[in-house]
Amino acid sequence: MKIMVTGGAGFIGSAVVRRAIAYGHSIVNVDALTYAACLDNVASASESPEYAFEHADIRDASAMSAILCKYQPDAIMHLAAESHVDRSIDGPATFIDTNVTGTYVLLEAARAYWMDAGRPETFRFHHISTDEVFGSLGETGFFTEDSPYQPNSPYSASKASSDHLVRAWRETYGLPVVMTNCSNNYGPYQFPEKLIPVVILNALSGKPIPIYGAGDNIRDWLHVEDHAKALLLVLEKGKLGRSYNIGGENEMTNLDLVRMICAILDQLKPGKTPYADLITFVTDRPGHDRRYAIDPKRIREELNWRPTFTPETGLKQTVQWYLDNDAWLNALHTRSGVGERLGIAR
Ligand SMILES: NC(=O)c1ccc[n+]([C@@H]2O[C@H](COP(=O)([O-])OP(=O)(O)OC[C@H]3O[C@@H](n4cnc5c(N)ncnc54)[C@H](O)[C@@H]3O)[C@@H](O)[C@H]2O)c1
Repeated sequence: MKIMVTGGAGFIGSAVVRRAIAYGHSIVNVDALTYAACLDNVASASESPEYAFEHADIRDASAMSAILCKYQPDAIMHLAAESHVDRSIDGPATFIDTNVTGTYVLLEAARAYWMDAGRPETFRFHHISTDEVFGSLGETGFFTEDSPYQPNSPYSASKASSDHLVRAWRETYGLPVVMTNCSNNYGPYQFPEKLIPVVILNALSGKPIPIYGAGDNIRDWLHVEDHAKALLLVLEKGKLGRSYNIGGENEMTNLDLVRMICAILDQLKPGKTPYADLITFVTDRPGHDRRYAIDPKRIREELNWRPTFTPETGLKQTVQWYLDNDAWLNALHTRSGVGERLGIAR
C-alpha cells in the first residue's frame, strides 16, 4: 500500500513509518519538523527506496494537494499534531491551529483528491487520536468507543475537535475514514518533555525527578510498537467509518510508574544511591485528569489485536534504549522548553 503519513518524524509517526516500511508498504512522510520532530527517528526507514520525505505543513492547502497529486497514496495516516498537554496550557493557539485547522485543511485536500480519483471506497483517511478526548474517569469504568467526549485541556479539546471534523467528513461527504483513540504511549524515540523520558533523563543527570501533585493520577500505558502495529491493522482491516480504542490494559499511578523506572535504572546503571531518592513532588498541572483506562474489546474481538509488551518488558527495553542512545537524547537538550517546567499558568 502507498501511505502518506503526517507527523512521521515524531514519536508515534516514526514508529508507524519504520513498521510500515518493514511490512513492505511505500511511505511518504509529511512533516513540518517542529520542535518535537527528529529525522533520526526514521533514519533506518529512509534508506529504503520505498521511503520519501516531504517537509510541509498540514495547514498549507496547496502543499497538501501537491503532495497527494505527486504520490497518489492509497491511504493517509494522520498523526501530525501538537501533542504536549503542558505546552497547550501555556499556548493553546498553536494547538487550535495545527490540530483543528490543520486537520480541516488535510481533510479538504484528501476529499478533493479522493473525488478526483472517482471516490474509491478502498481509499482510507485514518485519523489518529487520544483517549484524553473522553476526559477523566472515576475509580472504576473504562473508555469505550461510545464514551461521551469531555475534554479538559486545550490539547484534548483540540484533538476532540479534530475527531468531530473527521466524523463529519465521513457522514457529510462519504470520505472513507477510520479513527483510533489510544492511551498513553511510551517507548524509544519519545521526545524528552513527556513523563518517561524526563524521568530517565533527570535520573541519569542526578536532577530531581518531578511528579505532579501526589503522583496518584492513573494512566493506561501502551508500548509505541504495539500502537504502531494496531494502527496498521486498523488501516488495513478496520471497518469503514468505525472508531477503535487502543489501550494496553496496563493501569498504573504515575508514582508507581516512576518507581518502576527507577528500579530498572538501579539494575541497568546503578548509581551511588537509589534513583528513587530523586523523586520530588511538584505543583500539579491545572485540569489534570485523574484516571484514563481503555476498554480495547472492539479492536481485540474484531481485529484480533493484543499488545505484545508487558509493562516489565516494555519499560526495561525502553530504559535500555535510552541508555544506549544518549547521543539522540543529548542532541535534543537545547530545544525550546526541554528541561523546563511548563503548563502551570492559571
Ligand atoms: N504520545 C501519546 O501518548 C499519544 C497517545 C495517543 C494519541 N496520540 C496522538 O498521536 C499523534 C502523534 O503523537 P506523538 O506523541 O508522536 O507526537 P509528537 O509531538 O512526538 O510528533 C508530532 C509530529 O507532528 C509534526 N507536526 C506538528 N505540527 C505539524 C504541522 N502543522 N504540519 C506537519 N507536521 C506537523 C511534528 O513536527 C512532529 O514530528 C498525535 O496526533 C497525538 O495526538 C499520542
